[in-house]
Amino acid sequence: MSQFAPRPLAIAPSILASDFSKLGEEVRAVDQAGADWIHLDVMDGHFVPNISYGPDVIKAMRPHTNKIFDAHLMIAPCDPYLEAFAKAGCDHITVHAEAGPHLHRSLQAIRALGKKAGVSLNPGTHPSVLEYVLDDIDLVLVMSVNPGFGGQAFIPSAVEKIKAIRAMVAGRPIDIEVDGGVSEKVAGELAAAGANALVAGSAVFKGGTLDAYKANIAGIRNAAMSARGEVV
Ligand code: DX5
Ligand code: ZN
Repeated sequence: MSQFAPRPLAIAPSILASDFSKLGEEVRAVDQAGADWIHLDVMDGHFVPNISYGPDVIKAMRPHTNKIFDAHLMIAPCDPYLEAFAKAGCDHITVHAEAGPHLHRSLQAIRALGKKAGVSLNPGTHPSVLEYVLDDIDLVLVMSVNPGFGGQAFIPSAVEKIKAIRAMVAGRPIDIEVDGGVSEKVAGELAAAGANALVAGSAVFKGGTLDAYKANIAGIRNAAMSARGEVV
């Protein structure tokens, strides 16, 4: 166990796995089902081999919940679009370390917009890229699949990477988030390794009803809470 007080646990359903024909309703449903953050996957068909949605769609979702909008930008370049995501109502803006040569500049720009700045690492990226930006970030997003698609299998090496990042952040107020293939089966292991924010797309939206979302989120939350030594 870490000598530092753990960051609060956050379950972050990924809207990528929702029914896009009724986005507002889906956002309200996961809010009501117990989501802490709403995870928003932005893909450009260039940095990742898929295209999802951009700031206008996020802006349309914004009135449907007061929960934190946790934007995961899988786009390159990202700097020209940061302001648009801030204005759309994103609270966290996470960029990929691999998306361009000026990570530090992007992080400064996000904070200058008054938003929390995050860095995401692909499965093949070493956490050493974080070393000189630790004072410039509020969040690290560890990818446990190759970004671009929901419903992929969890890559187990993410667990060791989370442990290494947990040691690196050493008590700084930085959330450690994990994304890709997360379900209640791996939630405990991830929380024990030091992840306090768990993104889940298919594992939350399976079943397609409010009751299913509630049970799915509770299953992930309970597994993580047990591993954190918290009363379920
Ligand atoms: C993948 C996205 C994820 C995705 C997760 O590129 O970053 O957020 O929606 O989906 P699941 O939980 O189904 O792996
Ligand atoms: Zn994501």
